[in-house]
Amino acid sequence: MAYENIIVETRGQVGVVSLSAGKLNPLSKKLLQELIEAIHNFETDNSILCIVIFGNDEVFCAGANIKEFADENFVDMFSQNRFGEETEAFRNCRKPIIAGVNGYALGGGCELAMSCDMIIAAESAQFGQPEILLGLMPGLGGSQRMTRAIGKAKSMEMHLTGSRLTAMEADQAGLVSRVVPDADLKAETMALANKITEQAPLAVMAIKEAINKAEELPLSEGLLLERRLFHALFATEDKNEGVRAFIEKRKPEFKGN
Ligand code: COA
Repeated sequence: MAYENIIVETRGQVGVVSLSAGKLNPLSKKLLQELIEAIHNFETDNSILCIVIFGNDEVFCAGANIKEFADENFVDMFSQNRFGEETEAFRNCRKPIIAGVNGYALGGGCELAMSCDMIIAAESAQFGQPEILLGLMPGLGGSQRMTRAIGKAKSMEMHLTGSRLTAMEADQAGLVSRVVPDADLKAETMALANKITEQAPLAVMAIKEAINKAEELPLSEGLLLERRLFHALFATEDKNEGVRAFIEKRKPEFKGN
């Protein structure tokens, strides 16, 4: 597919998607379709070990394209199960996805960032779920993911008033893994992605699965899942290589098997 709303690049073993749909990057249906396809292609490409999503130079994404909502009604949304496919596409991706967020990450933009496994925020980043101001609510996971990330009280206030978190507030609340100067966002995010590509790919996948399940499973089930995945990694050649390299005091050469 020739993309109109995103720019897709491969940098080493990192797949990079930059949203490129205009100044505020409104999340149109077309943009979401393109994004799902790009993620799917990276997911199935064995040479890609980590995925990164950026906005443009000023803004991550100002949310769903409100203008598309004007003529849509309940029947359209419900019959098409709008945002169902998108929600699942992100959840099903087994490779780590990092969002590098600058400027506005509002509504669907905030939900897109939270659908990723980690968020690196530039100092200019602002996170919010302002759907209430349109008489709406999130539909791409905002009320669930934000609440799990920052707790009920802060999430409730944001959702009920449309108030935003600055990058620093998002950091303090646990929504982002760290805040960096705007000028360093791309380099810092790519450095993190590259660091992940140096690890054993099967262990990376297993860890992603275990941590994401931690939000859903009772502790006893989560502990069992973790233990079984830990056991499974003993069947990998990369575990033998990692342990051998440690003992021989050298850098491991992981092969993904
Ligand atoms: N969807 C569609 N168009 C959008 C949009 C969105 N999510 N966000 C902004 N725009 C459009 C505006 O309508 C405006 O269009 P115009 O130039 O044709 O008038 C243009 O982008 C610039 O927006 P403007 O509000 O003038 O810019 P700003 O810099 O003053 O404010 C925002 C930027 C993002 C804070 C503000 O536009 C906003 O609050 N947008 C809505 C965010 C939102 O509710 N997202 C969740 C949607 S469910």
